[in-house]
Amino acid sequence: MNISTLHESVAQADCDVLVVGIHSEAPLSGPAAELDQATGGQISRLLKAKEISGKRYELMTLLAPSGVKARIVATIGLGPEATFDRQVAFRASAAASKDLAGKERPKIAFFMRPGRSHELMEAAVAGSFVGCHGADLYRAQKSRFPYQDILWSGVTDDALASGRILGEGVNLTRRLVNEPPSVMFPESFADQAAGVGHEAGMEVEIWDQARLEKERCGSLLAVAKGSSKEPRLVVLSYRGGPDDQAPLALVGKGVTFDSGGLSIKPTDGMKTMKCDMAGAATVVGAMQAIARLKLPVNVTGYCGLVENMLGSSAYKLGDVLHARSGKTIEVLNTDAEGRLVLADVLDVCVERKPAKIVDLATLTGACVVALGTDIAGLMTNHADWGDAVRKAAECAGEPLWPLPMFAEFGEQIRSDIADIKNVGDGRWGGAITAAKFLEEFVHGKPWVHLDIAGPAYYDSPRPWCDAGGSGMYVRTLVELARNFKG
Ligand code: BES
Ligand code: MN
Ligand code: ZN
Repeated sequence: MNISTLHESVAQADCDVLVVGIHSEAPLSGPAAELDQATGGQISRLLKAKEISGKRYELMTLLAPSGVKARIVATIGLGPEATFDRQVAFRASAAASKDLAGKERPKIAFFMRPGRSHELMEAAVAGSFVGCHGADLYRAQKSRFPYQDILWSGVTDDALASGRILGEGVNLTRRLVNEPPSVMFPESFADQAAGVGHEAGMEVEIWDQARLEKERCGSLLAVAKGSSKEPRLVVLSYRGGPDDQAPLALVGKGVTFDSGGLSIKPTDGMKTMKCDMAGAATVVGAMQAIARLKLPVNVTGYCGLVENMLGSSAYKLGDVLHARSGKTIEVLNTDAEGRLVLADVLDVCVERKPAKIVDLATLTGACVVALGTDIAGLMTNHADWGDAVRKAAECAGEPLWPLPMFAEFGEQIRSDIADIKNVGDGRWGGAITAAKFLEEFVHGKPWVHLDIAGPAYYDSPRPWCDAGGSGMYVRTLVELARNFKG
């Protein structure tokens, strides 16, 4: 896809389809007013007739109107001017991009009102890249046709370049999630991550089964035992900051398929479990964007990659695992595997002395029960670092919400036979008992855990994104790296 700035007027833009935004509860202004004028008042007539209202993500298309060169014009609702932020900018352009990509239309032009902030321009450009890519990877008859040329008016060259990088980071994460599990397994995911790392000039380190054994990653390795696929640990290092700056560490759960193991999931719960590597995919998408943006910081990404299966060597209920940190873990449910993988990855991460840690994991159904499908849960051992992550997410327009980490939840994972067990007592508060388990492995370092089980994967489409991997929190991680001071 090519992207460039556009300097022609709304009437003169030479393209297949032209998009302008419309606010609700406000008179037409900027490009929307220009379009209205060029078409002899078509837009204001439709507004007056209440065919369009400017409410969020409402798309209206006019075929072959006179007065403009474009073959099709579209308006996209932006909601009230007062609440137009990065979330709305991203989602509105993605929604227009998605709908209009339903047919082959090589050239699309977006008009943004001149004078918007850099952040709004960038978010809108990113959305235009994200919306037009679907989850139709293996369909002969495509449902989305990514544009050959995306043109933007009212946007600076800088915002165009960085918006594209953000959009491509999100799309990378989405594609990694959407690939079927027989294509995306630990080794192939590691290859993909290595390719991304090398291309963006990062240092790449991959631990195979033998190295993981040598490093005594007994917790991660146990999960991998039921699968014919070998596990991997991927470490991507980007060093854009001062040599003596301790890095920001991003850690992702990469269970490339979660059958539940011997605690096997029913079909309904299992059918989307290719998404259980979304945390790792988010780390890779964000690392790519951070490196391409050349941010002046040091960031290290860790992906713990395993397949959770129930082969004859599978780990069992009652097994006691020896984690890399030295802690022993009683297994009482093989479907609580993500925390077992992260236990060892966090231990490796901490050993390398990061300044601060964020992990992302599709960790618990309980978090989806608590917060619904569109909001990640945030749990932390460090209030200030938690606030920094909340702020980054809020600015990026990707909602998340804190859950409390009272010590009582930690009591629930004490075991009689080992140091800890991998589930709480019963299912209540399951997102928090899982976080309390992870906290055992961060050795008091400032750490934030994001449980993305809900928003990482859309079971049904949103106006701005097809069903499947969402790429949510890639932009939050980039924002966090931008604000990172060591
Ligand atoms: N990968 C799942 C969590 C999940 C659920 C992700 C729904 C995405 C959508 C995780 O490994 C899991 O199975 N968790 C169990 C934990 C329980 C056994 C303590 C769960 O949530 O039921
Ligand atoms: Mn599981
Ligand atoms: Zn899982």
